[in-house]
Amino acid sequence: MKHIVLLGLVVVLAVGASTARLGKPVVPAVFVLGGSTLDVGNNNHLSGKDVPRANVPFYGVDFPGGPMPTGRFSNGYNLADFIAKHLGFERSPLAYLVLKSRNYIIPSALTRGVSYASAGAGILDSTNAGNNIPLSKQLLYFASTKSKMEDAWGTHKVSTLLANSFFLLGIGNNDLFQTSPKTAADVATIYATLVSNYSAAIADLYGMGARKFGIINVGPIGCLPRVRVLNKTGACNEALNRYAAGFAAIVKLALANLASKLPNFSYSLADSFAVFNLQTLGFVNLDSACCGTGRMGAEGGELCMRNDTLCADRDAYLFWDSVHFTQQAAELGAVGLFDGSTQLTAPISFKQLAYKRY
Ligand SMILES: *[C@@H]1O[C@H](CO)[C@@H](O)[C@H](O)[C@H]1NC(C)=O
Ligand SMILES: *[C@@H]1O[C@H](CO)[C@@H](O)[C@H](O)[C@H]1NC(C)=O
Ligand SMILES: *[C@@H]1O[C@H](CO)[C@@H](O)[C@H](O)[C@H]1NC(C)=O
Ligand SMILES: *[C@@H]1O[C@H](CO)[C@@H](O)[C@H](O)[C@H]1NC(C)=O
Repeated sequence: MKHIVLLGLVVVLAVGASTARLGKPVVPAVFVLGGSTLDVGNNNHLSGKDVPRANVPFYGVDFPGGPMPTGRFSNGYNLADFIAKHLGFERSPLAYLVLKSRNYIIPSALTRGVSYASAGAGILDSTNAGNNIPLSKQLLYFASTKSKMEDAWGTHKVSTLLANSFFLLGIGNNDLFQTSPKTAADVATIYATLVSNYSAAIADLYGMGARKFGIINVGPIGCLPRVRVLNKTGACNEALNRYAAGFAAIVKLALANLASKLPNFSYSLADSFAVFNLQTLGFVNLDSACCGTGRMGAEGGELCMRNDTLCADRDAYLFWDSVHFTQQAAELGAVGLFDGSTQLTAPISFKQLAYKRY
């Protein structure tokens, strides 16, 4: 009974919050930086046997026009796709390394944007080093894109395009996973390193002309199936959640600080803990991977493999593999980010951010 009522709420939200949905895009382009929740195929173009790649079934089993594994860590679209859809695009802009291999970076950058997101990436270069495009390198790729755009269009037009574009960032969870602080002093040191590096990266983007930042904050990593399975009772790891929540609060302060110093800097920060709480209302299964092995689908490694078994109803599951959301969860999350009434974002919603004009 409870689920029926709550699912009703979800349907209302989904109908109420569409922004542009394939009309004329409300921003000139979207530039995406971050980790696996936003990656649309960059990692497929990295070499190295330990690079995480979503290039085999059952990834993409529900991809529109598929089944087709695309490098997205999802059964279909991911969060970047749904955010881009709300902005009026068909899906996420293509991955930088895909565009590079097709010699198509500039046409894409000028009309849709580019995705630099890479699974496993961190704010720090040391996070999963060698197996992803770290944030610092994503910035270098953006700088190179920008200079090629200027060669094509001139600095004035590119500056207007970038100031009005949507910069989508989602990074930090991997850094938290990789660190294991033992004392409160360790925690403080890690937070300080991460936040200074993250703030510097955002200020760097601002320096290159970005003005509108949609930022997905770190979330309840202690509730991923991969973590829950380690506890006999399957409970979330609350210590890990507190560790992430502490950093999320610091990111919030850092953004307010940047906004107070940098003219025209505007942002919408997504509270991933609140997004998670909203999502839990919409799904029957909240704790297990739909694609996986063993207890909670989380005993066979982080990723979904072609010999795994799938759950019966993928839309009923919050988690696709043991660390990533299903397409359905990503869609529901994106609705909340654009719908200011659900209070998942501050100080403004993704929709209000999108409509700012510079
Ligand atoms: C962040 O730290 C990495 C080292 O982990 C460094 O290479 C990078 O330049 C730093 N980025 C910024 C924006 O400070
Ligand atoms: C498992 O979860 C329970 C409930 O949150 C908690 O009390 C317990 O300490 C956890 N066990 C381990 C080994 O983390
Ligand atoms: C699936 O294949 C991997 C290697 O490709 C193997 O390690 C694993 O045990 C297999 N899992 C099952 C459930 O057969
Ligand atoms: C801020 O935005 C206004 C209005 O678009 C513009 O004229 C001004 O140059 C911008 N300043 C900076 C530093 O971005």
